[in-house]
Amino acid sequence: MRTLIKHVLASTEPKEALAIKGWVRTRRDSKGFSFLELNDGSCLANLQIVVDATTPGFENPATLTTGASAAVEGNLVASPASGQKWELRATHIELVGAVDPTYPLQKKGHTPEFLRTIAHLRPRSNLFGTIFRLRSRLAYAVHQFFQDRDFVYVHTPIITASDCEGAGEMFRVTALKGNIDEKPQTDFFGKRTYLTVSGQLEGETFACALSNIYTFGPTFRAENSNTTRHAAEFWMIEPEMAFCDLQGDMDLGEEFIKAMARYAQEHCTEDLSLFAKFVDKDLPERLKFVIERPFVRVPYTDAVKILCGSGRKFEFPVKYGLNLQSEHERFLTEEHFKSPVTVFNYPREIKPFYMRLNDDHKTVAAMDMLVPGIGEVVGGAQREERLDQLLENMRSHKLNPEDYSWYLDLRRFGTVPHAGFGLGFERLLMFLTGVSNIRDVIPFARTPGNADF
Ligand code: 4AD
Ligand code: MG
Repeated sequence: MRTLIKHVLASTEPKEALAIKGWVRTRRDSKGFSFLELNDGSCLANLQIVVDATTPGFENPATLTTGASAAVEGNLVASPASGQKWELRATHIELVGAVDPTYPLQKKGHTPEFLRTIAHLRPRSNLFGTIFRLRSRLAYAVHQFFQDRDFVYVHTPIITASDCEGAGEMFRVTALKGNIDEKPQTDFFGKRTYLTVSGQLEGETFACALSNIYTFGPTFRAENSNTTRHAAEFWMIEPEMAFCDLQGDMDLGEEFIKAMARYAQEHCTEDLSLFAKFVDKDLPERLKFVIERPFVRVPYTDAVKILCGSGRKFEFPVKYGLNLQSEHERFLTEEHFKSPVTVFNYPREIKPFYMRLNDDHKTVAAMDMLVPGIGEVVGGAQREERLDQLLENMRSHKLNPEDYSWYLDLRRFGTVPHAGFGLGFERLLMFLTGVSNIRDVIPFARTPGNADF
C-alpha cells in the first residue's frame, strides 16, 4: 500500500518497507549515491530519498529528473542531514512517467504571473500547492461552521431566469443558433435563461421552510471589470435565516469571518507561515486582529461623512446616493478605522429590489463587510417581507412581478422577517493568505478574455 509523504514525515519511529509515489523535485548525485527530493502534493515538504548505484530500478538515473514521476520502496531512517528528521533509503525505485526537456517548472522560484500561464502545472509549485490545499481545508471549514449551527445546505440552480442583483451582468444560456433574441420562447427552456449571479432568491424559499440554510456554489458575473478582485466565475457562500433581522445578519457575518480566520490559524499553521514569509509579512498580525477585535459598524450616511471630511483626493466622487467604490471601502477599513468595518443602511436607489425598506423610507436594511487589503467580502441584507412594499420596490426597479410570482408567494403564505448575505469564497481566501490577485486563489480563473484550460 502506498503511503502519503505527509504521513511518512509525521512518523515517530523508523519504518521498514514503505512504498511511496510522487514527482521528483530535484536530484543531486554524489559519489555512489543520489539524493532525490520527492513530493506527492500531500504536504509542502519533500521526502528525501537516498538511492545508491546498485538499487534495483536505478539503472538509468538520468531519467529521474525534475518533474518525472517515480515509485519508491524503502526503509525510513533518521536523517543525518540537518533540517529534516527522516530520509528513505530506497530498496527499489521505478520511473513511472518520464519528463521531456521542455518541463517549465524549475527549482528556482517562478513569479505568479508566469505560473498563471501554466495553470495546469502550477499546483506542483510550493506556493500554489499550499494555496489549493488551504482552499480545500477552508471549504470544509465553511460546511463545518454551518452544519454545526444546524444550517441546511441547499443546492440552488446554476441556470436561472431571474437576475437577482438586477445589475444585468449575466451570461446568457441558450441552445438557439443565429438571432437568439428573435424567439426566446422557442429556446430550450421556453424563455431567456442565464448563469446565476446569486442563489439568494431560491435560497430564500428554502429558508422560509427550513429556517436556516446556506448555499455554497459557483456564481457567474459578466461584469467587464478586469481587476484583481473580480472573476467571471467565482464561488459564493450564501446563508439565509428566517425570523432574522439585519442585526442578526451582521452578527452571523462577523462570527463567520472570525471563525474562518481562527480555523486557518489553528489548522493551516504551516501554510500560513509560508504566506507570511513569501506573500504578506503582515498576515499573522492581521488575522490575530480580526479574530480578537469586534468589527466597527457604521451607517452608510456616516461613512460618506467620514470620506467627505477626510481631505483625501479620491478618483471617484463621494456623495450621499452614490455607491462606495473600492478605494473608499479600503480607505475606511485600512486607514480610517484600521479594522474590519460593516457599513449598513444604504440608500434604496443603489441597492437591489429585495432589500427591506427602513422606516426612514430612504434607506434599506443592507450591509457590506469590508476588510483590509480587499474591501468588500460580504454583501447582505434583511429582505423585504411585506408583499405591498416588495411590489412597490419591483415597480421602482422596473421589474415585472409576473416573472417573480413564486418569490412573491413567500410573502403571501406565512411571510416572516428574514435576512442573509453572500460571501465571495475567493475574496475570503485572498484575505486569509495575503495573495493579492483573485486569479491565484482559484484553480482555473475565468476573467474577461481568458477561459484557458
Ligand atoms: O454583494 P453581492 O453582489 O451580493 C449578492 O449577490 C447577494 N445576492 C448576496 C446575498 O445577500 N445572498 O455579492 C456577494 C459577494 C461580494 O461581497 C463579493 O465578496 C463576492 O460576492 N463577489 C465577487 N467575487 C469575485 N468576483 C466577482 N466578480 C464578485 N462579485 C461579487
Ligand atoms: Mg455587493
